[in-house]
Amino acid sequence: MKEKIEKILKEKTGEEVKVEKAPLGYGDYATNIALLLGKKEKKDSREVAEEIKKSIKSPLFEKVEEKNGFLNFFLSLEALRDEFFEVLKKEKDYGKEKCKKIVVIDYSSPNIAKSFGIGHLRSTIIGHSLYKIYQFLGWKAVGINHLGDWGTQYGKLLYQIKKEGKDPEKLSIRELEDLYIRFHKEAEKDPKMEEEGRRWFSLLEKGDKEAKRIWEVCREKSLVEFEKIYRDLEVKIDYCLGESFYEGKLEEVIKEAKEKKVAKESKGAFIIEFENMPPAMILKSDRSTTYLTRDLAAAKYRLKRFSPDLFIYEVGADQILHLKQLFSAVEKLGWADKERFVHVPHGMFRLKEGKFSTRKGRTVHLEDVLSMAKEKAEKIIENSSTARDISLEEKKKLAKIVGIGAVKYNDLKRHHKRDVLFDWDQILSLKGDSGPYLQYTCVRCKSIIKKAKEVRSEIKDLNSEERKIVKRIIQFKETVELAAETFSPNIIAEYAFKLAKEFNSFYDTYPILGNAKRVAVTKAVLIILENSLNLLTISVPEKM
Ligand code: ARG
Repeated sequence: MKEKIEKILKEKTGEEVKVEKAPLGYGDYATNIALLLGKKEKKDSREVAEEIKKSIKSPLFEKVEEKNGFLNFFLSLEALRDEFFEVLKKEKDYGKEKCKKIVVIDYSSPNIAKSFGIGHLRSTIIGHSLYKIYQFLGWKAVGINHLGDWGTQYGKLLYQIKKEGKDPEKLSIRELEDLYIRFHKEAEKDPKMEEEGRRWFSLLEKGDKEAKRIWEVCREKSLVEFEKIYRDLEVKIDYCLGESFYEGKLEEVIKEAKEKKVAKESKGAFIIEFENMPPAMILKSDRSTTYLTRDLAAAKYRLKRFSPDLFIYEVGADQILHLKQLFSAVEKLGWADKERFVHVPHGMFRLKEGKFSTRKGRTVHLEDVLSMAKEKAEKIIENSSTARDISLEEKKKLAKIVGIGAVKYNDLKRHHKRDVLFDWDQILSLKGDSGPYLQYTCVRCKSIIKKAKEVRSEIKDLNSEERKIVKRIIQFKETVELAAETFSPNIIAEYAFKLAKEFNSFYDTYPILGNAKRVAVTKAVLIILENSLNLLTISVPEKM
């Protein structure tokens, strides 16, 4: 609708016009084009507005008003109806677009030899939702899991395994994590251990057989656990290209950086300097590489392999500087304009006691969060009337959809930048602004539609509640676009919640069965809610 209005205004004024959703009481859409034109042409903006207003004769509008130089548009019943029927006709394809662009999204990217922590949940969920959103808008989306499987910390782990004489094959992920924690505790008293850790990483880099063998066991074990979690979360990432994948590609990057004089020597190391940021190291004085070196190699590889128009990194806000340095370095090397790179930083989950930290042993394991969520959902289902009609197996399946949906939605409903205080009750909430509330609304719509005989496609009038819902429904496309433009799935979550609330209060006020128009509205609500939840990677059960 926004685009349609923008097009009309462009025809009338010859300008690129931006139309926004109007504030309450000012119609449906508004634009400040008259103010802008007034300034440009040194005319009274109200007169300009009046002129534009007079020239618009479109069946889209019931009326167009001028207020303080703004133009406010009120949609006509006909416009609402046409778009509404589009929804009913296109169903799950409603709002889909075509485009020839490619986006590479770097998300999830947990570190091996540690359990999948709650911290990586945000990246996984938000990143995967962005992936779906861009795909919906027609982009070719490439998802990459930049697994943390290389670096000095693995030298430390190898050293600790050796020191304690452990057999890596027999260690669980939690035990590996404990070894890492112990390393740091002991290293506080014995600084020589840091040295040993570096030495073991250097052995690994040189391809030492024993070091490589232990590392491979740890990596494999982690992947098995991560896969389990991805399966639970219903997240599939196209490529798992971890940091170790770039091992053979690092020398070339360092060489290029030296040759192009992007990197320079400093105290035996190689660093890249920036105008307004601290310098970053790409080669340490002991010849080992860094996280940045590997990210540079990854950027180069992705450019060549996928030719993306856009790179999205869904990575914690604690890495803002690192990614800024990366994007700048890529530009300095002449590989690509840094405008093509976006960091979508997510805020951190915080405990009341402070930050999560594996080193300090302050972690919450995602595995536990997910099983708690399922358990809680199971209990609620057990006490509900639905429990009588379904088998045990169905109950388990439903509990999973609801529990996981709750966890995902809890993450997606907040703006990615905001920190989240870790709160069990909120994460597992099944009421109010929650995933299960939206799922439940969908199921309610489904059951109404099943009972209704036909979905009549004729609308002669809409009462004010129906009108409100239909207006909300047809804002779906612009909502998805805005979410993509601002990398904010929470915009879709908020939108879906508002629609569900409006529908439920409508349901409480009016009988729907027996009134074909209202059944049609119910059907459209279901389509839009399902489409929204699909973009949020949340499934909808059949019964609930
Ligand atoms: N493994 C990293 C971490 O857990 C995140 C990697 C993000 N992606 C990247 N290309 N640096 O902190």
